Formats: sequence, C-alpha cells, structure tokens
Amino acid sequence: MSLTLLSAARDAAWRAVSTAMKYPEAEFAAYAPTSTAAPLSSGPDFAQRQAQIDAVRGGPSQAEAEAAPHLIFEHIAKQYKAASGPVQALRDVSFTVQRGEIFGIIGRSGAGKSTLLRTINALERPDAGSVSIDGLRVGELDEDALVGLRRRIGMIFQHFNLLSAKTVRDNVGLPLRVAGVAPEQIRSRVDALLDLVGLRDKAEVYPAKLSGGQKQRVGIARALVHEPDVLLCDEATSALDPESTQSILSLLRDVSSKMGLTVVLITHDMAVIREICDRVLVLDQGAIVEQGEVWKVLGDPQAEATRALLRPLMHGLPPDLAAQLVDDLQGRPGLAILSLHYGGAQRPQGVSLQELALLGPQATLIHGGLDRIRGHAQGSLLLSLPAASWHAAKAQGLAGADFIEVLGYVPAPVL
Ligand SMILES: Nc1ncnc2c1ncn2[C@@H]1O[C@H](COP(=O)(O)OP(=O)(O)OP(=O)(O)O)[C@@H](O)[C@H]1O
Ligand SMILES: [Mg+2]
Repeated sequence: MSLTLLSAARDAAWRAVSTAMKYPEAEFAAYAPTSTAAPLSSGPDFAQRQAQIDAVRGGPSQAEAEAAPHLIFEHIAKQYKAASGPVQALRDVSFTVQRGEIFGIIGRSGAGKSTLLRTINALERPDAGSVSIDGLRVGELDEDALVGLRRRIGMIFQHFNLLSAKTVRDNVGLPLRVAGVAPEQIRSRVDALLDLVGLRDKAEVYPAKLSGGQKQRVGIARALVHEPDVLLCDEATSALDPESTQSILSLLRDVSSKMGLTVVLITHDMAVIREICDRVLVLDQGAIVEQGEVWKVLGDPQAEATRALLRPLMHGLPPDLAAQLVDDLQGRPGLAILSLHYGGAQRPQGVSLQELALLGPQATLIHGGLDRIRGHAQGSLLLSLPAASWHAAKAQGLAGADFIEVLGYVPAPVL
C-alpha cells in the first residue's frame, strides 16, 4: 500500500475510533471502578461519579487548560527499603510536561525512570512532593477518582503484558469488558483501533502467533481503548529489532498527533529520544541532571551522564586509525585527526562546504554524519589534515563547527 493510501486508511480508522468513542454510556463506563463489572449508567451514585469524571476531565476552561502544563511534578522524592538498605530512587524531581508533547525521560538502568513514570498514575506514591494532571493533585484523589484518572492514562510496556489465552481482539477489548461496556460497542471500538494500528487481519489470532512489533501494536491499541489524554511508555521498544522500533515509534507519533495525546516515554536509548521526542529529561541516580529540547540536549550535552548515553550514537574513530593514534608527533610529519562537532545552534541548516574548505585543500573527510533533529543539523565529522596545515588553519576559526576536538595524530607515512 502506498504511503498516501496508508495514511488515508489510518485517518479513516481514526475517524471510526472517534465515532465509536462518542457513546456517552460507554464513555461513562470507561470511568467505572474496576471492581464494578456492570454498566454504570444507573445507580445511586451516578451523579457523584459523573462529577468526579468532569473534575478529572474538564478542570479549568479549555483555554486555561491548553496554556497550563498538562503534567506538573513538584519536588518528588521516593525511597525504597531494600534488604541491603534504603535506596533513594528519586531526589527532588521537578519538571513540567506540556499538553500534546512527546516527552522523553532517559537515564541509565536504575536511574529511577520507571519509578518516576509510575507516580503519574499513582502506581507509585512519592514520599514527598506532588504530581498534578490538569491541575488535579494525584495524591489527593480518592479511590474512585483515581480509577477515573487511570482511565485517562494509557500505558505500554517493554514486554507487552498481553494475555496469552486471549485473542488480539479480546486483549484489546478487555479493559472495556471490565468496565461493563456493551459487547457491540466494544466490537466497533476494538475494530477501529485494530485498523488504526494496522492489525485488523489479526483480530482472532493469539499473541504467540505475533511478532514483537505486532504485540506492541496490540499493547498500543489496548492502551488507547479508553481514549486517554496521556500515554505512558516504559521502554516500549526495548525488546524490538530496529525495524519494528522504527515502525512503533512512527505509530506513536501518528497516534499522538491525531489524538492530541501527551506522551511520556522512558528509555535508555538515545536513538529513540532523537527519533520521536520534543523535549527530554536526563535522570541520574534519581536526580535530574539535564533537561531541554532534544536537539539542544543532544547537540550540546552538559552532564556526564548525558554524554555517556550519547556515546553509542557518536561516530567513532575507525579501529585501524585508532591503533596508530599518538598524542604528539614530536616534530615528525603526520596527520592531525580532528572531530568537528555541530550542535545545531550555530548552523541550523547544515554545514557549509565553503567553511569546511577553510581547513585547506588537503583536509580529508574520514568518517561521520549529520542528523536533522527538530529542524537542526547536528552531529560530528572526522577529518584528517597534515599537522602543519592544522596549526595554520587553527587561526582561521572553527570552519563552521561549534568546536573542534583534536583526537590525536597519526605519524606519516601511514595513510
Ligand atoms: N520495589 C522496589 N523495592 C526496592 N527497590 C526498588 C524497587 N523498585 C525500584 N527499586 C530501586 O530503585 C531504583 C530505581 O529503580 P527504577 O526501576 O525506577 O529504575 P529505572 O531507571 O527504571 O531502571 P531500568 O532502566 O533498569 O528499568 C533502583 O535502584 C531500583 O533497584
Ligand atoms: Mg525501568
């Protein structure tokens, strides 16, 4: 199918999802406490529950809600008691996430990412600080309001968490069945969602027959079944091969823009952040060490933890050259090996060859590449040039780069 056709099919599927979600009864049932299996459009506390739903959904006026941050984290701290002693998982974490943005949280294993993500739907209660969604403090909600809130928050996981004894259709529809939605409404909504994630033909298949990428598509459809405002992704692509990762990321991007979803995504893979996020926060040992727009953080990382996470993305020196590298030529002729870094701020459009030519006619491009991240060209280029011309060229400036790192020298004759 051509891309246009695919996109038209997705649009049609999304219109169907929207229509299927317009049933007020089903909408209400979506907020039912999980302990109540029957439809909830009748019963003594209907009005009270509806008021709680309105409070969770509506809050202030639409204009106010759009301008205000969607999620606010204030001074979050969390300590676990482990057998080996207390573990400080989060330390004074404060940040905001805007409505509709794709916000990345990155950090090494054990940095506190999952703990932080789970404070959003109160699966984890912080020891100090608060999380607010649309101005509502999650920690102050009673059990029923919390159930309502959790239905506004979809979640997907690294290992998909699908029920192996249920078909794709039943896995996706399960949250609606638990909420007491009528079978025909479940069917139309699930069909529309399966269209949206491109799995309509797998509706009656069991998870064991699906690839990892397909399982995650089921996970995404299930997370969207209550038409959430927020989607939380905990290492959603970590178990996938690069091709499936790309297709899941593009589905997430698609769904986020069509549904106006706020996505909070945690990963330890900078490539995922680069691919999809608007802003990123770097956690290290439970504390924020850096945050900002992705192109800035990736282009000019300040924290050592960020640099360490970025290292796999950097274009390294080829091993044969690395083996010959010395710190100093000690007067002998040879080549200077340079890494020119482009952070995206100085040259948003790209790198000018004219400026590169300032390094002289013998400059040789060895390795490297530039990426375009949110409209900014950034990356690094590895070059060699005769050491003598490098000393002369230095005076000319930076040849368009943000900075030039001298990696070392290779004595002649080698190249
Ligand atoms: N239930 C728990 N009991 C004790 N310690 C815990 C518990 N959950 C998490 N921790 C500890 O808290 C710290 C943060 O854990 P968390 O799972 O949030 O990290 P993470 O950044 O998500 O790591 P990963 O990338 O490996 O998933 C770790 O040191 C972890 O061992
Ligand atoms: Mg985790």
